[in-house]
Amino acid sequence: MAKFSPQSPIAKTFFSFFLSLFFLFIIFSSSTATIQNNNRRLEGKVAIITGGASGIGAATARLFVHQGAKVVICDIQDKLGTSVAQQIGNKQTIIYVHCDVSIEADVKNVVNTTIAKFGKLDIMFSNAGVMGNPFTSIQDIDYNMIKNIFDVNVVGGFFCAKHAARVMIPKKKGVIIFTTSIVSTFYSDLVHIYTTSKNALLGLTKNVGVELAKYGIRVNSVSPYTISTPLMLNAFKVNKEMADKWFTEGGNLKGVLLSVEDVADGVLYLASDESRYASGLNLIIDGGYTTTNVALPEVYKRLFINKTM
Ligand SMILES: NC(=O)c1ccc[n+]([C@@H]2O[C@H](COP(=O)([O-])OP(=O)(O)OC[C@H]3O[C@@H](n4cnc5c(N)ncnc54)[C@H](O)[C@@H]3O)[C@@H](O)[C@H]2O)c1
Repeated sequence: MAKFSPQSPIAKTFFSFFLSLFFLFIIFSSSTATIQNNNRRLEGKVAIITGGASGIGAATARLFVHQGAKVVICDIQDKLGTSVAQQIGNKQTIIYVHCDVSIEADVKNVVNTTIAKFGKLDIMFSNAGVMGNPFTSIQDIDYNMIKNIFDVNVVGGFFCAKHAARVMIPKKKGVIIFTTSIVSTFYSDLVHIYTTSKNALLGLTKNVGVELAKYGIRVNSVSPYTISTPLMLNAFKVNKEMADKWFTEGGNLKGVLLSVEDVADGVLYLASDESRYASGLNLIIDGGYTTTNVALPEVYKRLFINKTM
């Protein structure tokens, strides 16, 4: 029988074969780890999401839990909020708490409940909002109309920022995110009160962002284009099918309909450490809609090219 030698061609072939296998294993396991890390971008974080029973808030809650966060959703729709939380996870990962954001005691309570349940607060997503009647001339607006919308959209934003700051400042870290809207950047027909409230949130984002930056707390906002959520469907009194058609045809980016999940992806970026140097940012998710203004070209076509248009 031939004696085995480490220098023999067979031994060398075996050696290089096992060496290749070893390197393949290293490459495979490191790429798997990267993929796993990408799926746990909020591992160890705790978040509050207001308006979490529906639309953008519910989609963000689902994504946050999937990405490893512990989440408290709050809303005024208790039955829906409780069932959304149950669908997303168990009580170790997500709970529902009643909170009317326009009532300071409610916001204080949801922050305290979060600390009691999960030990800390890393992310405050102040997202709850109302629109009111989008067809109101300035001449018909009264105090109660303004108050009803501002109490939720603006005062609620203040309370969320205040009580998040209360628990984030001692820890010298945290993220506050407001849901504004594309109406914070352009004219949008007769939605004066809603538009003004969302502009106010932009101001809040920038100002509070500067105050809290010295504690390492980042403050940003997200401004989505239109989506067929209950807020939009109820305000414009249209069904989802027609609203989707309207938003698709009216959009700048063709072939894509903006979804609540798209907005949640943007919020995830702002909430995660991937945006660790982003503060005072208004992340506009609109397919370029707010960069367009078709008025001049359209009138040009009407006046000079196709006079019958
Ligand atoms: N859908 C859009 O086209 C669009 C576009 C830009 C911005 N936004 C903003 O997105 C945010 C979420 O809206 P959405 O589109 O997901 O609508 P939605 O109707 O699906 O969700 C809004 C949620 O806020 C809750 N809410 C209302 N008043 C509240 C209060 N006082 N306290 C606590 N919760 C309250 C509602 O019960 C509801 O669950 C709002 O701030 C809205 O202004 C929506």
